[in-house]
Amino acid sequence: MKFDVLTIFPNLFDSFKKESLISKALKNKIISINIIDIRNFTSDKHKTVDDTPYGGGAGMLMKIEPIYKALKSLKKEKDRRIILLSPGGEQFTQKKAVEYSKFKNLVFICGRYEGIDARIENFIDEKISIGPYVLNGGEVASMVVMESVSRLLPNFLGNKDSLNEETFNEKENADFVEYPQFTRPEIFKVGNKQYKVPEVLLSGNHKLIEEWKKKNSK
Ligand code: ADE
Repeated sequence: MKFDVLTIFPNLFDSFKKESLISKALKNKIISINIIDIRNFTSDKHKTVDDTPYGGGAGMLMKIEPIYKALKSLKKEKDRRIILLSPGGEQFTQKKAVEYSKFKNLVFICGRYEGIDARIENFIDEKISIGPYVLNGGEVASMVVMESVSRLLPNFLGNKDSLNEETFNEKENADFVEYPQFTRPEIFKVGNKQYKVPEVLLSGNHKLIEEWKKKNSK
């Protein structure tokens, strides 16, 4: 899976690429993450990426040309989706993550400021929001989408069972069935309070444990 990310804040992605399972997946070539600095596609001395809106109004808009040129610079993959991250987009869901995981190439356009010149609509496949709240831009949102899609790819998770056990299925609004889990110590003490691991999990009785897990799944 190849991810291309168009942004004016390329450094925001540094630690995302360097840590944990994402860094491992990059090393193992399960994914690639290509960060494209939109500023490199400006043509003026000041590398201007924003301008005031026609008709007036508060704030600045991202200009269309640098984004278009950045998009044009990408190798045209057959099996790709161009996604604009925007609080006004369609709600991102687990179902969408599954759908995206079947593509070869996802291109993210990270908007900033008050938005992007509306003519961007002619050059994208869809607009996605990660939730009903407003971020400073699409960068964090693109990382959310990349992470949820990556973990669905074959060999991304070292332990295959972890994906199966969390019942992430393809239904919209999937019930994320998971039971409470505990690790050492058996008794966690805070002052005179004791927080204990449920007895049954220590019993070694697999049938009872399975029943308990089922009963305590949400
Ligand atoms: N940009 C700003 N807010 C956003 C959101 N909620 N989802 C995706 N992109 C955004």
